[in-house]
Amino acid sequence: KKAITNEADYNIRKMLDMAELQLERGDDHQAKEKFEEILRSHPYSPRAHYGRAQALESISEFKKSNKLLEQAIEMYEQVTEMPDAPFILILQSGIRQVDRLRFRGCNTNDARYDTMERADGTVDNKVLRASRRLALQRRKTHEAYQLYKDGARQGLFPSMYQRSPNVYNVGGLRTKPFWSEKDFHQKLAILSLEDNWEVIRDEAVRVYERDENFKVEGISYTEGDWKRFFLYSKDYGSLDRKNCRRTRSVPKIFDGRSKTPLPASRGQVSLSVMMPGTHVWPHTGPSNTRLRSHLGLVTPKGARMRVGPETRVWKEGKVLIFDDSFEHEVWNDGDTYRLLLLIDFWHPDLTEAQRESLSPL
Ligand code: LMR
Ligand code: MN
Repeated sequence: KKAITNEADYNIRKMLDMAELQLERGDDHQAKEKFEEILRSHPYSPRAHYGRAQALESISEFKKSNKLLEQAIEMYEQVTEMPDAPFILILQSGIRQVDRLRFRGCNTNDARYDTMERADGTVDNKVLRASRRLALQRRKTHEAYQLYKDGARQGLFPSMYQRSPNVYNVGGLRTKPFWSEKDFHQKLAILSLEDNWEVIRDEAVRVYERDENFKVEGISYTEGDWKRFFLYSKDYGSLDRKNCRRTRSVPKIFDGRSKTPLPASRGQVSLSVMMPGTHVWPHTGPSNTRLRSHLGLVTPKGARMRVGPETRVWKEGKVLIFDDSFEHEVWNDGDTYRLLLLIDFWHPDLTEAQRESLSPL
């Protein structure tokens, strides 16, 4: 309880506890009224806001009412806006909000998911206010990690560094920031990529230099210029046939017949290009169910990536595999662009049945 209670809420904790108890018991309507009563005298209570949102969410489920769900989402958003809200509440609200928006069928990869930096250096985000953690991390790393530890203890995500929300994680999977192809299930695919890397590079460079269909990536947490060209992505209708025709060597390795190693609905295949001077601030992927591989195509000195506590560099023609549910940060301090082929694989510990059952992300 302490972690979700700020100073002002501490003074009214008895009332809050009572309302929350009603919520736990399933007395949604009474809980809602109680929270509303508290809000009348304490309009800035983060816990009361959060509680009211939960009550509304529950009632909306029961009544199958989109209007109430809308209100609940709005309410969660308000929590994420409150300057005094404890981090854990902000994070939980952010996660609930995204979860509910997804439930409603919104594409949370749209602009709402992105953050914008305000003039004062704080970060503003319309959905996942939890990305305040980014702002926090830009300024106070130590404090940020304290909060992440709290978050992990609260069961929001697996660990200080691995922060994909547990609602999208699967338990019991092996977990580490970097993987080597030796303990990876797709050795053949990796070898095939490495064997064909020059052909892939030539195509990729050709496509890039014509700047065909590269889309700006990670605006909210990138200083500089980072773009991706999608061959495969749920958002772009799975296989992007037009883009695939432009880089034939890649689809040849990953065609539909070769028992596709891709997370059908949870990952992408893309070219990723980063201009010199680019810095991608620490961020975390949505789920621990995929592993991300990078085939180095153009890798200037000074291009590097930190995943969790460890920083590595790419090598041309070599595959680097990492778990993007760990916080990662990327720099290109080189003097040319950095180009790589990115392929997401299912986590090797997932069974076929689990893969089939996982919802798209
Ligand atoms: C990421 O997931 O952030 C990386 O793949 C970015 C990149 O292209 O280096
Ligand atoms: Mn990333």
